[in-house]
Amino acid sequence: MTLILRTLAGLSLAAALASPAFAKGDIEAGKQKAYTCAGCHGITGYKNAYPTYHVPRIAGQNYEYLKAALHEYAKGERSHPTMQAQAESFSEQDIDDIASFLSSLSEEGAK
Ligand code: HEC
Repeated sequence: MTLILRTLAGLSLAAALASPAFAKGDIEAGKQKAYTCAGCHGITGYKNAYPTYHVPRIAGQNYEYLKAALHEYAKGERSHPTMQAQAESFSEQDIDDIASFLSSLSEEGAK
C-alpha cells in the first residue's frame, strides 16, 4: 500500500516536472470553461463559426501569454467589447484553468 502511494506520488511529481508550461490550472475544468470560446476562436473538435472579422488563434497559445491577455481585457487595458465581457466574468482560478487548457492543446487545434 505504502509502496503504491509512493509510486503514485512519484509519478505525478514526474508528470508535473515534465510539463511545467501547463501544470498550473486544472485542464479539465478549463475545458468546460472554455466551451463558449470555441464559437469564435475555433478550438479542437469544433468548427470555426465562419468569422467575418479577425479572431486570433488561442488553441496551443502560450500559457503566460493567455493569462496576460485575459488580465488585460479584464482590467480594460486591452479593449474589445466581447473579450472584455468574457474576461471580466472570470476569477483568477478560471483564468488559470482556461490558460492551462488552451496551452495544453497541440497545433492541431488550429486546423
Ligand atoms: C464573440 C466572439 C468571441 C468569443 C465568444 C471569445 N472571443 Fe476571444 N477574441 C475575440 C476577438 C474578436 C479577439 C480579438 C480582439 C482584439 O482585437 O483585441 C479575441 C481575442 C482573444 C485573446 C487575445 C489573443 C491574442 O493573440 O491577442 C484571447 C487570449 C482570447 N480572445 C481568449 C478567449 C477566451 C478564453 C474565450 C472564452 C472564455 C474567448 N476568447 C471568447 C472574439 C471572441
